[in-house]
Amino acid sequence: MFQGNGVKGLSEMGLKSLPNQYIQPLEERTSMIKVAPQQWIPIIDMSNLEDPKVGDAVCDAAEKWGFFQIVNHGVPIEVLDNVKNATCRFYGLPTEEKRKYTKENSSSKNVRYGTSFSPEAEKALEWKDYLSLFYVSEDEALEKWPLACRDEALEYMKRSEVVIKQLIQILMSRLNVKEIDGTKESLFMGSKRINLNYYPICPNPELTVAIGRHSDVSTLTVLLQDDTGGLYVRAEDGESWIHVPPVAGSLVINVGDALQIMSNGRYRSVEHRVAANGNKVRVSVPIFVNPKPSEFIGPLPEVLANGEKAIYKKVLYSDYVKHFFKKAHDGKMTVEFAK
Ligand code: SIN
Ligand code: FE2
Repeated sequence: MFQGNGVKGLSEMGLKSLPNQYIQPLEERTSMIKVAPQQWIPIIDMSNLEDPKVGDAVCDAAEKWGFFQIVNHGVPIEVLDNVKNATCRFYGLPTEEKRKYTKENSSSKNVRYGTSFSPEAEKALEWKDYLSLFYVSEDEALEKWPLACRDEALEYMKRSEVVIKQLIQILMSRLNVKEIDGTKESLFMGSKRINLNYYPICPNPELTVAIGRHSDVSTLTVLLQDDTGGLYVRAEDGESWIHVPPVAGSLVINVGDALQIMSNGRYRSVEHRVAANGNKVRVSVPIFVNPKPSEFIGPLPEVLANGEKAIYKKVLYSDYVKHFFKKAHDGKMTVEFAK
């Protein structure tokens, strides 16, 4: 059972070498990957949305890379700094305090503090601790989210709402979905989860991984990373990996499985992974923008209107997510569930 101080606890014990449970098979270690030379995911300036080039850049990046970074996105730097600091504050709490939020102890199933991804299902563990907050309502958040980070996480979620809507609007207009009404909002962004990730210093980063290969189950993910680096995205050739360099004030955006399915494969939900670090703590704060769990996701009628054949079947989104969480990270396998 998870005792409440995670890999941070292990790291702070001053371990000289990595415990066996964290040793990954050779092919899963980020130290073994081939890094694509001279390739970068695009950095898109969102300040002038009137310019059609911005929309084109967003859609092109979602089709080609599945990943891009945005700058001048309208979320104040201070809000981003505050949520990073709040993440450190939460992990700095005494173990007894953090333990209140483990699966066994949390008073809400929407608030979960844990370690690795799915320890019961994993052959080798990931070097990561997380606090995962599924947003149901402001009232629940105010009552149940840990005080050490509650207000900052809520503020970050609220302030990123505008740019999330803009991105969805832009991506949908290329798919001929003209109006995002209430029904479509529930399908594209009817639920949200925010994770506060903490990756402590690792004694043997070359033998393990901070997050294993996976694609996200979201519509879109908005990721705030600190200045440490270590996020790698699978390149188009399928064999090499591209590093996503930290860019001050930027947000990393990626397409998730739900959008790949709804766009019938046009927008790509791309595998990614995170390297452990031997010198520096890393924090990251993704917001997963998801369909509402009760929605059925499948290729959108607008996409199939030209006679295109559906590659995916319709699946209940909550079933899709359940399937993802019950196994270890395994690349892009979850999407097979919708075939
Ligand atoms: C994730 O893939 O969920 C997090 C990525 C990161 O920490 O950079
Ligand atoms: Fe991810």
